[in-house]
Amino acid sequence: MYKVHCLNNISQKGLELLTGDYELTDDVNDADVILVRSADMHEMEIPDGLKAVARAGAGVNNIPLEKLAERGIPVFNTPGANANAVKELVIAGMLLSARDIIGGNAWVVANADDENVGKAAEKAKKQFAGGEIMGKTLGIIGLGAIGKKVAVAADALGMDVVGYDPFMDAQTAAGIVDGLRFVTDLNDLYEASDYITIHVPATGETKGMIDQAAIAKMRDGVVFLNFSRDSLVNDADMAAALDGGKVARYVSDFANPAVVKMPNAIVLPHLGASTEEAEDNCAIMAVNEVMDYLANGTKTHCVNL
Ligand code: MLT
Repeated sequence: MYKVHCLNNISQKGLELLTGDYELTDDVNDADVILVRSADMHEMEIPDGLKAVARAGAGVNNIPLEKLAERGIPVFNTPGANANAVKELVIAGMLLSARDIIGGNAWVVANADDENVGKAAEKAKKQFAGGEIMGKTLGIIGLGAIGKKVAVAADALGMDVVGYDPFMDAQTAAGIVDGLRFVTDLNDLYEASDYITIHVPATGETKGMIDQAAIAKMRDGVVFLNFSRDSLVNDADMAAALDGGKVARYVSDFANPAVVKMPNAIVLPHLGASTEEAEDNCAIMAVNEVMDYLANGTKTHCVNL
């Protein structure tokens, strides 16, 4: 019997696949398998009998990959399983920054007791007006599962789409969507884009890649969207760029003490993959990967061995 411990809430749709040889345990020290979402495993003691870890999600920066690899313990993730949820929030982030929808709604709430709110709204609304995303250029850094979906959706909304991915060739990129302009130099994307969204993993190499030097190459008034990880962006440089107006809006899914205080930032509490559908998809995929490994030795989406 394999014992499975969940370090975070894992969707029931995945857990109910754990029948037969599997049972859940509340005691992490008993675990043969750990299922995790964003809980930080770096400082935790690894249970003696641990045989596999599955991350219900894509990012694995919360997991000590090398330490587990040294002990022969595979770590699986679920690339693509939550991509649609993230894509939808990226599109929402662009729309939220194109017009001051948040400010407009706050105005309505603040004026809820005004009997003449309708008339007052007609006068007030000009301060919340903005532009449309149709006809604007979106640069996508990273054309993995999420980046591809964002490209297709943005193209369907009438945007011009520029994509960059050092691990993709032009021929593969051409298959994503007809309108995509694939560039092999990130500077070309920076120069062309009104909106830029980043979809790359958080690694030593990508840490702080959006810094003063990168921002300087972007268009004045660019909107930058970060639904990947906050470590990709140098917070001090982004704050300065927002302050000076070089970046018009920073949409981040990662609330840290620096980002929440930035002017013109729209900050969300890591909601990218928080939909019922994505949570179900990730849990089902994570559980299936672990069961396939323990039954057959198959290592689908293993990220460390
Ligand atoms: C991911 O890494 O899959 C997303 O950021 C969502 C999550 O952390 O669950």
